[in-house]
Amino acid sequence: MANLIVRRLLIDLATPFPARWNGGDAFRSAFFNALSMSFPVGEQYFIDSVRAGLKALPPELQEGLAREVQGFVGQEATHRRVHALFNGHLTALGFDNELERRSTRRIQKNAGSDVRIHVAATAATEHLTAIFADWLLRHPEAMEGAEPRMRILWQWHASEESEHCSTAFDVYRALGGNEEWRMRLFGYITTTFALDITRQTIRNLWHDRSLFKWSTWRSAYRLLFSPQGMIRASYPAWKAYKAADFHPRQQDGSLARAWLQNNTDQYVPLGQQA
Ligand SMILES: [Fe+2]
Ligand SMILES: [Fe+2]
Repeated sequence: MANLIVRRLLIDLATPFPARWNGGDAFRSAFFNALSMSFPVGEQYFIDSVRAGLKALPPELQEGLAREVQGFVGQEATHRRVHALFNGHLTALGFDNELERRSTRRIQKNAGSDVRIHVAATAATEHLTAIFADWLLRHPEAMEGAEPRMRILWQWHASEESEHCSTAFDVYRALGGNEEWRMRLFGYITTTFALDITRQTIRNLWHDRSLFKWSTWRSAYRLLFSPQGMIRASYPAWKAYKAADFHPRQQDGSLARAWLQNNTDQYVPLGQQA
């Protein structure tokens, strides 16, 4: 069982930042902003799903997972708060978070589904965030030229995503969730998440007046589709989820552990409560 600690970041989140905060690069900024826009509503959904999943377990199984779920909830609640502050600056710059409205509608529409569906959807999204996290920690050039406080924010979030990558998955297994639905939800989540982020990135670029510039799409290629780019380099880790004997702990979390150990001056550990 993972011992998940909630950490309060010490960085300045009050000072505004420019639209192209990520090294002056329009695409890198718009893409990261789209991810950030998905977090507050998404992470609340993960919290609600994993909590409901834990509650649905028989007491003897609850006992083994309760502490880890508490840490998971504390970490995700902290991420929500930090990204809500981050997104507040984007709103002040005139960016419209359409992704949040769409996800909220989708969550409301599916609210009556079986708890295992919600936990499977959470486990699938957590795998996507964990592989993105690992890629980000492996490729600091994705935030080249960004202010240190921005790099710390994203690397801290990435490290905690890697740290708690197995919580929802273990709750799903404990609930007796089957392989068929684990795979179905993984396909569904990959598609909807990719579409949501693509649409919001385009929206952000439109607002930034950089949608139709060659430099924007050159940067998109470098960030996502080049051999070391996020999508190509992460494909083997994405595919690993489909193996029958997959478990999130099989993924390499060493960079995340190293980041948390090497950056203790950037946060205050709060224990398990957010
Ligand atoms: Fe998170
Ligand atoms: Fe997470």
